[in-house]
Amino acid sequence: MGPIRLLLPGYVAHHGSVQRALLLENVHPTSVPILESAGYEVDYRKGALDEDELIAALDGVQLLGIRSKTEVTARVLSQATDLVGVGAFSIGTNQINLTAAAHRGVAVFNAPFSNTRSVVELAIAEIISLTRRMTERDRALHSGVWDKSAEGSHEVRGRTLGIVGYGNIGSQLSVLAENLGMSVIFFDTAEKLSLGNARRAETLDELLETADIVTLHVDGRSGNAGLFGAKQFARMKQDAIFLNLCRGFVVDVDSLAEHIQSGHLSGAAVDVFPEEPKKRGDAFESVLRGLPNVILTPHVGGSTEEAQESIGQFVAKKLSDYVSTGSTMLSVNLPNLQLEHTGVGRIKLLHRNVPGVLATVNQIFADHGANIEGQMLATRGDIGYVVTDISDVTERGASKKLQALDTTIRLRIRDAFERPEFPPGPAAR
Ligand SMILES: NC(=O)c1ccc[n+]([C@@H]2O[C@H](COP(=O)([O-])OP(=O)(O)OC[C@H]3O[C@@H](n4cnc5c(N)ncnc54)[C@H](O)[C@@H]3O)[C@@H](O)[C@H]2O)c1
Repeated sequence: MGPIRLLLPGYVAHHGSVQRALLLENVHPTSVPILESAGYEVDYRKGALDEDELIAALDGVQLLGIRSKTEVTARVLSQATDLVGVGAFSIGTNQINLTAAAHRGVAVFNAPFSNTRSVVELAIAEIISLTRRMTERDRALHSGVWDKSAEGSHEVRGRTLGIVGYGNIGSQLSVLAENLGMSVIFFDTAEKLSLGNARRAETLDELLETADIVTLHVDGRSGNAGLFGAKQFARMKQDAIFLNLCRGFVVDVDSLAEHIQSGHLSGAAVDVFPEEPKKRGDAFESVLRGLPNVILTPHVGGSTEEAQESIGQFVAKKLSDYVSTGSTMLSVNLPNLQLEHTGVGRIKLLHRNVPGVLATVNQIFADHGANIEGQMLATRGDIGYVVTDISDVTERGASKKLQALDTTIRLRIRDAFERPEFPPGPAAR
């Protein structure tokens, strides 16, 4: 029997089926041509979807793009059997059940660095505005009152900024704040290199008792729910300022409102909320509305045109690389690997990480006279991923055997004679 012909990346329809991508929440349109050139028909929508709406919309969809409001739950993943990749056009990924996605063979990508600078610039703008009580002067003048006074207005120079969470955003904010003449103290649960003259606090309490301004930049891990409540606000200095631009569920907003109303805190800026409206134009309810010297922004910390364009390109490119080359580099839930294309065809096997899988896989290739040109294996927890390039085979049927292994989660192969995408293997069902 002659060698199997394998189709190169860009192959779209097979047996008349169309590859489809669903993009929600108004992700940047630069993502659309990238997915279209990977051979995808793109359904582009403005709002988020709830669980049932999402399940219905994912019928026949291979790639999903979301921002922070659409929740990709285990139930969604169990019903979306065509799905192979999810792009979070954001930094956070806690809106997606990453473990369930990995066990269904669904790769998840995000944009970890694309909007860092935008969040930092908003934080700086808010720190200056609140310290200067610009919000109140602005409101008074718009309502026709000339409120010329220095009372309660300060320079930021010489004041101490307390940064909770010294990751991408926290550490860049630290550099810019020092350039404005501020002193920086930070608290992070992980070991972090102090930049410039920033000083590490041993405890959160130490930071709260020292800082004139406290700003939160922790990640969205579930353990951070309720991190900041009555106890932490009470620890802050009299007239201190509080900012939250990370995740809404981290802060008890009722407690924040009480500390503003009592005059303990002199101002706050909040960009993220425990419950956020689904789409632009929706009504917004919060105990923080109408409070003095409080800036409320609708989760726009990372929303600049520069950041959105960069995220749109970055995530769409990751999804497109994944479906065409199998690259999982920077995937947040699958083993990361990237193999230069060496053969005619590529076999991408996500499997349960148990001893002996690679030996079994290679025995199947050997039995079918497959000439392996390149191969790479990576593992992450209980998931393994092996990508194999072959130039030809002498006998057909290897893919069916790979698919039938009880360790197989998902097999993807571009092959002229067999289906390019198989349904989830026994392990995923
Ligand atoms: N407002 C927006 O539009 C917007 C935009 C981008 C990012 N964000 C959010 O900003 C946050 C930070 O983003 P990043 O890129 O800097 O993340 P990152 O992962 O680089 O940094 C997070 C840091 O917080 C630390 N941390 C986690 N839990 C902690 C805790 N309980 N106490 C102290 N430190 C803790 C981690 O060790 C890490 O250093 C994320 O929650 C992200 O979702 C919001």
